[in-house]
Amino acid sequence: MATAELAGKHLVLGMTGGIACYKIAELTRLLTKAGATVQVVMTEAATQFITPVTMQALSGRPVYTSQWDARVPNNMAHIDLSREADAIVIAPASTDFLAKLVHGMADDLLSTLCVARDCPLLVVPAMNRQMWQNPATQRNVAQLRADGVSVLGPDSGPQACGEIGDGRMLEAAATYEAIASFFAPKILAGRRVLLTAGPTFEPLDPVRGITNRSSGKMGFALARAAQQAGADVHLVAGPVALETPWGVLREDVQTAQQMHDAVMGSVANADIFIGVAAVADWRVDHASEHKIKKTAGHALPSFAFVENPDILAAVAQLPRPPFTVGFAAESGDLETHGEEKRVRKKVPLLIGNLGPLTFGLDDNEVILFEAARTTRLPRADKQTLARALIAEIAKRLPDTSPIR
Ligand code: CTP
Repeated sequence: MATAELAGKHLVLGMTGGIACYKIAELTRLLTKAGATVQVVMTEAATQFITPVTMQALSGRPVYTSQWDARVPNNMAHIDLSREADAIVIAPASTDFLAKLVHGMADDLLSTLCVARDCPLLVVPAMNRQMWQNPATQRNVAQLRADGVSVLGPDSGPQACGEIGDGRMLEAAATYEAIASFFAPKILAGRRVLLTAGPTFEPLDPVRGITNRSSGKMGFALARAAQQAGADVHLVAGPVALETPWGVLREDVQTAQQMHDAVMGSVANADIFIGVAAVADWRVDHASEHKIKKTAGHALPSFAFVENPDILAAVAQLPRPPFTVGFAAESGDLETHGEEKRVRKKVPLLIGNLGPLTFGLDDNEVILFEAARTTRLPRADKQTLARALIAEIAKRLPDTSPIR
């Protein structure tokens, strides 16, 4: 998860009334862990759902609920609390509070803070499906966007009221990612990034198959970093157990052929292609339609393999390829194999994993192979490394906006 963007940031976290208040406890923990200072301000309604004591303990700062709070020396809480703020985040943002914001109403501490602010405003709506779909709410959200307010979410799914639909608040982790994304430098604004990630699964029969140990973590971290850098991101993922990064379009596939077809169907729109997936090199020629039975006294099964398409090489060989980046996981002599692989696949940039194979681990160390040089990046967690790699890729693109 991204952290660098939030270190040292000062956020006013405004809570309004709603059951989603419970998510803000976790959000506060994530934000403070990332090095942000969090000043919680709650409406009277929010205090009905979670106590200021809990929020004070998690944020490490006194919580404000009233504009008449005598703890602010000059008695101007509505000005003072947001004076140093890098942003005000309203989470959860109730239907009522969105309506108040549209009209610039200032009848309690939090609404007054918003009207008196001199910093960006982010709102994270949380409400019942009908309330979200109400034309008045939709008008209000459109107006807030037009006023330059960032609207994060909402999510879709089961709601506290028992209904299913749009309106529920993003989960704490997704809200955290969306806030980090807001602060990240937009070095890929206007670019479209297509990535592959994870392993592929090549069936032997309906229940068995061949796969590998790729966790997908590096590819997902890159997708997240590209999205945070302002890119439009399409992630083609093999079978992995990972959450989709916020704001990323994800397409799930199983086999190398399916991954190839998904990539080829979208690559014409991409400015950058990053092949991170550990694609199976071979598949069984004719996978059995039925489960292969273990019959006593019969010969062991044997399989004929055929080669899978090389997705990276296919993209690099297109008449007008996007800026194409490959990865290489080697179990030895990376220096030789890395450059050889880059030349063989005809890609301008290939990223090699240094040291032992790092499948599933959170840390990684890489070396960049390109025609004129190699560059080492220091060991770091995969998300930090992903951010550094996106910066390296951005540096290698032409200066003008979309390259194709
Ligand atoms: N790759 C691909 N399609 C394949 C095989 C690999 O797109 N069928 C891509 C990977 O996503 C990665 C790069 O090619 O970006 C290198 O993958 P790797 O498995 O290291 O290379 P291989 O070509 O499979 O070579 P080898 O297994 O012999 O090392």
